[in-house]
Amino acid sequence: MLKLLIAACMSALAVTDAVAQQSLLERGGYLVNAVMACDGCHTPRGPAGLDMSRRFSGGSQVWDEPEYLVRGSNITPDRETGIGGWTANDMKRLLTEGKRPSGVPVAHQMPYPFYKILTPRDLDAVAAYSLSVPAVRNQVPAPVYRKPAHTELIPGAEKPFSDEMLKDPLKRGFYLGTIAHCMECHSRRPDGRADYVKWNGKGGYVFKTPKGTVTTKNITSHKTAGVGGWTDAELRRALTEGVDRTGKPFGPQMQRQFYFSKMTDQDLDAIVAWVRTIPPAE
Ligand code: HEC
Ligand code: HEC
Repeated sequence: MLKLLIAACMSALAVTDAVAQQSLLERGGYLVNAVMACDGCHTPRGPAGLDMSRRFSGGSQVWDEPEYLVRGSNITPDRETGIGGWTANDMKRLLTEGKRPSGVPVAHQMPYPFYKILTPRDLDAVAAYSLSVPAVRNQVPAPVYRKPAHTELIPGAEKPFSDEMLKDPLKRGFYLGTIAHCMECHSRRPDGRADYVKWNGKGGYVFKTPKGTVTTKNITSHKTAGVGGWTDAELRRALTEGVDRTGKPFGPQMQRQFYFSKMTDQDLDAIVAWVRTIPPAE
């Protein structure tokens, strides 16, 4: 009798565990696929866009900056060319501190400064999900670090939020906008440095690409210089369809609808509400 009871308890525990694990993976999948857009930097691009059959195997995105020359790494569990053997704790340390298990830090092109705000549960979820992808063999050239990079943190986003804080729509919007690293581009000064205080949301940085240049826009609540005059619906459409106020498609940097169109209504509303609170600047 006792044995049976113990067996019943054990299997009930195993079921609860499986459910907890699944919802962790689901939450991680949602954050990665709809908000954090790891694929944009870590999944190889083919002629038809992201090649999901080689998901997370890196190599095709290159950043050649004065401080470093890096490529999106192979973050699949391939033993020789990826991050095979990394534990959830290794991944969590990389995501929030930018340190590999070897101790070698990554360039801040990997947006770890934006991930310090992740709630403990969301950090677990993102680590679990990102470690669950299949291994893909792809040797990515080693990074080159040229000189120390200056890393800034967004005021208020230096440490983990709590689940309780996410119930407040504005805090939730700030949280999502941070992990979607909007300000990586929109608070970059023309000289390339991030400034989340004086340059918060102001735009003005010019991306040079083989196809031409694109200037980051002002997304502060300034009525004319920023998006203060836009309706909520227009802001939402910019995120979910990748078009400006007139319906004209954005350049590649702001073509983020592949991810943001998967966001829940509640989260989209929260991001839009937060954008509206960015102090006006011009
Ligand atoms: C804006 C582009 C960008 C985004 C978004 C991004 N990464 Fe990265 N990541 C990089 C780059 C570039 C590197 C390599 C940096 C280096 O070599 O110094 C990197 C490195 C890493 C590494 C270290 C692997 C190694 O080289 O040892 C891991 C793990 C990682 N990223 C996971 C993720 C996960 C998970 C996400 C999404 C939650 C993510 N990244 C989002 C650009 C990005
Ligand atoms: C990788 C860089 C990058 C990231 C990340 C990014 N943006 Fe943008 N964004 C741009 C660029 C560049 C433009 C200008 C696009 C163009 O003109 O083609 C733009 C344009 C916009 C516009 C249109 C403004 C106008 O006047 O037309 C809005 C609104 C906007 N971004 C909001 C956001 C929000 C909110 C986020 C985060 C959820 C975000 N962006 C993330 C680079 C980025």
